Amino acid sequence: MKKSIIRGSGFFVPPHIVTNQDLTEFMDTSDEWIRQRTGIHQRHWVTQEDVCGASDLGTQAARMALDKAGWHPNDLDFIIFATLSPDIMFPGGGCLLARNLELNSTPALDIRQQCTGFLYGFATADSYIKSGLAAKVLLVGAEVHSTGLDKTTRGRDVTVIFGDGAAALCIEAVDTDKNVGLIASALHADGHFAETLKTELPASNLFKRLPDDIPLDDPRYFPFMDGPAIFKKAVRMLPKVTKEVLEKAGMELSDIDLVIPHQANKRINQAFGQFLKLPEDKIFHNIEKYGNTTAASIPLALHEAIEAGRIGKSGDVVLFAGLGAGLTWGASLYRF
Ligand code: ACO
Repeated sequence: MKKSIIRGSGFFVPPHIVTNQDLTEFMDTSDEWIRQRTGIHQRHWVTQEDVCGASDLGTQAARMALDKAGWHPNDLDFIIFATLSPDIMFPGGGCLLARNLELNSTPALDIRQQCTGFLYGFATADSYIKSGLAAKVLLVGAEVHSTGLDKTTRGRDVTVIFGDGAAALCIEAVDTDKNVGLIASALHADGHFAETLKTELPASNLFKRLPDDIPLDDPRYFPFMDGPAIFKKAVRMLPKVTKEVLEKAGMELSDIDLVIPHQANKRINQAFGQFLKLPEDKIFHNIEKYGNTTAASIPLALHEAIEAGRIGKSGDVVLFAGLGAGLTWGASLYRF
């Protein structure tokens, strides 16, 4: 039976670092508040000089993943691109990324499931692989949040948590009877909570890059988030969906070597770990360096965990879990 195996991972963040202290120059916040409430110390934001969108950051991450896998872009037979911050309204970032890789007929699909985009993307890649529709898939999560944020005190709850960045995986179909690769996924969405986290007006980051075009007094151009409501929901749903995916896979919590949660708030992930009674060193955090990079956050953390030797030996099991706008949430299990 065909299994979805990770052959290479890559990431890219724009070089410009914005510390918590830097944010205090244009909004009423403090390093202490941000560290205590979120665990974030800094984030990377594109600058005016970068002139790029999520597809460009994604392209850099994709090139690293392709190098690690030893693949040429022409080897790809499917591209999945997850973002909540597309370069422009349409066409989708997957087409733009394929253009950057100088491809002119490889199918490209966009996933718009926010912080759960990677989980939906991996499950989609796995379905294409299992059905025989694709054998070499590039899965990318990428965000340029910074150009679409309200950088006045009004937007401080959201603006301090978001970072720009991208990560990519090369996933290959392998015929094997071993229980390896993406073992199980559990995905959910509940639009009844759509109002708790949303941006109403156009999702064009290149448009938003032009400061004169943003009606700063109209909050509909910027993300709105009911942070405490989402916090509570995440702390409840992440353990629940973890139990669901373990049950699907016929596995126990003790089978998991590392948990890589979406990096939205360190306190959410610590509470998630405590709820499951997991030792602290079983949960991977890198939010302090990057903030919340939404669709990029789980694959970026996975890339770092692999590079650091925290996960990746044959037989190692990793749990991915996340919740975000939609609301959408999910979890998946992968065995190396
Ligand atoms: N700096 C200083 N003070 C702030 C800031 C800030 N950046 N932001 C909010 N405050 C203030 C508030 O105004 C409030 O002041 P008040 O008590 O005088 O009214 C006080 O701090 C407490 O505000 P809360 O919103 O209750 O703070 P909370 O502890 O909940 O932290 C946060 C806010 C960090 C946003 C948290 O709620 C959170 O992380 N929520 C979940 C975020 C998440 O997971 N999002 C989903 C993923 S993102 C996606 O899918 C796109």
